[in-house]
Amino acid sequence: MDISAIANQALERAGEAAASGPNAAETLAHLADGEMKAVNALILERMGSPVPLIPKLAKYLVEAGGKRVRPLVTIAAANMIGYTGDAHLKLAAAVEFIHTATLLHDDVVDESDLRRGRKAANLVWGNAPSVLVGDFLFARAFMLMVDAGSMDALHSLSRASSIIAEGEVRQLAVKGDIDATVGSYMEIIEAKTAALFASAAEVSAIVAGRPAEEIAALDTYGRELGLAFQLVDDALDYGGLAQSLGKNTGDDFREGKVTLPVVLALKKSGQADKQFWARVMAEGEQTEADFETALELLHRHDALKATLAMAEDKARTAQQALSVFPDNKWKTALSDLAEFVVQRAS
Ligand code: IPE
Ligand code: IPE
Ligand code: MG
Ligand code: MG
Repeated sequence: MDISAIANQALERAGEAAASGPNAAETLAHLADGEMKAVNALILERMGSPVPLIPKLAKYLVEAGGKRVRPLVTIAAANMIGYTGDAHLKLAAAVEFIHTATLLHDDVVDESDLRRGRKAANLVWGNAPSVLVGDFLFARAFMLMVDAGSMDALHSLSRASSIIAEGEVRQLAVKGDIDATVGSYMEIIEAKTAALFASAAEVSAIVAGRPAEEIAALDTYGRELGLAFQLVDDALDYGGLAQSLGKNTGDDFREGKVTLPVVLALKKSGQADKQFWARVMAEGEQTEADFETALELLHRHDALKATLAMAEDKARTAQQALSVFPDNKWKTALSDLAEFVVQRAS
């Protein structure tokens, strides 16, 4: 069976965008090039350690690339509001450190074997080094935040860090739960993904000393962008191509992670389909052919389409949150980024 038509459509759209010129993330990366170079230099400098395995493992992941979406949001937000200091560079680096630490931990938890197109660090070095280097990166993120010199920014990002951990633990606790609801799913992705995007966006307004209304607007922009981002990621897990995604498809399925496409398909399922989902998700009994069957069911119930529609809705809300800011090229770039996130292929 073909992979979902909808996910294919998203891939095609992203492919067309790539063929017709730079996408929004690339445009933003280009605009922010000078500052992102400084952020990347900070990242490399601050991951240094006399314990050789630490920079070795951390560099393996950092040098594999990654979209750097979160620090780009921090940099773009700072420029949009006309911030003239340099604390945002440290905060952007801290944001990427937090993200990188969660990826190291997440791949251990999810038993993933592909990340950023490479063998996952847990497969190369094992679980223990991945967890411990993740801890190191978290700690270095906090040192960077302290260096940035804003208690309020430190408060925002440290709160986000604890919420991410809560989200991951909450997700672990509901693994295989075929009674999961849209609400419980949204709570999880708000915590594990959207909280960091929200904080990445608002810290720029915080260090710039902007009014509460602007801080709240950026918090909303980041949160909704993050929700859209994870919704798309969860749709792609059932429809992307491993080569372009840089990580495997079907990971969520194999793990019994009941993401929104499955929640939505279950809502429309009869008894026989429910039994299928119970066997593969709750009981974890899967055969080779089951992923294909799952794709068929998701397709039949338009579950991927509905997931992407929800992502589009969140992206629109993110764009609307920017209305309090005066128009400039950075605001346009942030708005386009929200558009791009729902069309991204990797
Ligand atoms: C992966 O994030 C984790 C999710 C929240 C889905 P990214 O897709 O931003 O990962 P990189 O940094 O680009 O590899
Ligand atoms: C992303 O969650 C990890 C965090 C947000 C902490 P997932 O497990 O859904 O993301 P991928 O698919 O591994 O990147
Ligand atoms: Mg994962
Ligand atoms: Mg996970």
